[in-house]
Amino acid sequence: MKFESAFRRHLIRRAAYSRDLGPQELWSVIDQWPLYCGQYQLSRHLAIIDLVREILGVPGDVAEFGTWRGATAMLVAKVLHTYQPHDSKMVHCFDTFHGLEDFLPQDGPASGFSGEWAGSAEELRAMIRLHELEDAIVVHRGRIEETLPQLLAARPELSFCFAYCDADLYGPTAAVLEHLPPRLLPGGLLAFDEWNCDVFPGEGIAVGEFLSRAGPAFKARAVSTAAQPSLVLEKKEWGGTPVELAGIPPPATT
Ligand SMILES: C[S@@+](CC[C@H](N)C(=O)[O-])C[C@H]1O[C@@H](n2cnc3c(N)ncnc32)[C@H](O)[C@@H]1O
Repeated sequence: MKFESAFRRHLIRRAAYSRDLGPQELWSVIDQWPLYCGQYQLSRHLAIIDLVREILGVPGDVAEFGTWRGATAMLVAKVLHTYQPHDSKMVHCFDTFHGLEDFLPQDGPASGFSGEWAGSAEELRAMIRLHELEDAIVVHRGRIEETLPQLLAARPELSFCFAYCDADLYGPTAAVLEHLPPRLLPGGLLAFDEWNCDVFPGEGIAVGEFLSRAGPAFKARAVSTAAQPSLVLEKKEWGGTPVELAGIPPPATT
């Protein structure tokens, strides 16, 4: 990864800093987060905020695939609340909370991260309650390969404007790209955290397969302000080919 050595030096320096500083009061640290937040994380969060601002005018809900402790989902929900306090967009969190598992051959070296990023649905729900976001964030616990098609079958009216794909692996990313795109409105965005990443190749392989069959319907672009997300796919405007939207008939052709 480009600038990896600078990032590693930052991690070593901040570990030493926190050892010297000793335990701090949690909420005091959080309220002064720019003091502690590294450039890499700041850039990633700003890039995600920029994407959320871009989809404010696109109807539909938001999904995060691979939520872990919920930081990105919470960021998205709070940004939506800031800009559109009266909009109906929900944030759907999808995770097993087991961390990485069920590796396929496409995942290559990612299998070395078995169990990494394990989380807790209960802890995430407690954070959602802390911020009174119960009616803005919904948690779908289980394998994305099962929970996403189940949700879409149970809610045929549901459409999306933005999906953040961060499950790192081939299986869940391929499942998202099989089921979600027909429910993404034109102008909607799919963002990928580990596209083109040698350590987690499965995500990029799933994206490549998707683009080879659905490419013309999407415009691919990079994010210039952060290394992650590493790819954004924008669904093109409703054009000559009718876009299949569950519950919404395609425009009449004469
Ligand atoms: C890198 S973490 C996500 C980090 C999170 N997006 C953030 O910004 O803080 C990857 C997450 O994907 C989840 N995950 C991996 N494969 C999954 C699958 N098949 N179904 C559901 N969740 C999965 C893991 O449990 C883990 O929490």
